[in-house]
Amino acid sequence: MSINTDGDSKVYSVEEFVEKFGFDKCAFDLLKFIESDNSKIKDLLISKYLGTALSAEEEEELLEYFINNSVFSSATVANPATSVVTEFLYATPKIPLPIDQYFFESAGGKAIHSRITRVEENIHLLTDEFLKKGNVLIGNLGGGPGRDLIDVFSKYYKNNDNVAAINIDRDRNANLRGKRMAEAAGVQHKIEFAEASFMKYKPKQKFDIIILVGVLCSLPPDACVFVLRQARSLLAKGGCVMASNVSPKMLKDDPFTYFIMEKITNWHLIFKEEELLKDIFKKSGLIWQKSFSDDYGFHFMGIGSQKLLSF
Ligand SMILES: C[S@@+](CC[C@H](N)C(=O)[O-])C[C@H]1O[C@@H](n2cnc3c(N)ncnc32)[C@H](O)[C@@H]1O
Repeated sequence: MSINTDGDSKVYSVEEFVEKFGFDKCAFDLLKFIESDNSKIKDLLISKYLGTALSAEEEEELLEYFINNSVFSSATVANPATSVVTEFLYATPKIPLPIDQYFFESAGGKAIHSRITRVEENIHLLTDEFLKKGNVLIGNLGGGPGRDLIDVFSKYYKNNDNVAAINIDRDRNANLRGKRMAEAAGVQHKIEFAEASFMKYKPKQKFDIIILVGVLCSLPPDACVFVLRQARSLLAKGGCVMASNVSPKMLKDDPFTYFIMEKITNWHLIFKEEELLKDIFKKSGLIWQKSFSDDYGFHFMGIGSQKLLSF
């Protein structure tokens, strides 16, 4: 066993490792499962967490294990930004694979669930607010299949001709899936699915509400400003943008999940405090109105507009 960055060459049992870092039961269960299945992988995982440099062969063994034993991991390795990953977390299979079970039970996984719940509540609130002034057109930029809009529309606006949306995503499969999901929910007549980059999108009609969820999280602040400027240019007069970003609290409260995401599946996030998100809105020319977060405080959703709104 090589020496890790703490100068520590100790081989940890699962119990000792979990206790040393104060990890929760789901991390314990994950490591115990891996140990029972392949104790070398358990040792490699703990060594990597401790900062030990693994050989190329060991790194490959670890990655292969996660790819072969977890849908979440293999989808993330294929494309960290794909909505296949978020959809997998939203939908939760009845009997997930043991490693995937970890992602559902971890605080990070639960926060993703809570995020979509809060986002949907706020889409509903904003839509009702804008309906007071007339018709409402919503743009879902990087919407994946548009599950949030499909849920809100099917619950509240199925028969309301004054509300419509355009889901813009460059991923053809996400749009195809969204069309099917919208049809299954009976709201296909209310949502147009556009296969395009939202950075180049030229709408026939500008949007009253723009949503960007799970899009800024992996971008540095300058790129976020660039994206929000584009979103702002797609806004109708008096419209607003709701944009989510992952906060440093996720890293602090659930470091083991982020370790697996970043160090095994190569998914890098750029954590931003709410103050930084406010600054990004400001630099993009949007006036900060308010924010809300998921129940864990792992994601902040900022709402900004071209002028101060009354809600
Ligand atoms: C992590 S998924 C989030 C999907 C959805 N908004 C949600 O909250 O579940 C990010 C999505 O953004 C899309 N995306 C990223 N950059 C884009 C761009 N420039 N134009 C269109 N879609 C983009 C990706 O294709 C992907 O579907």
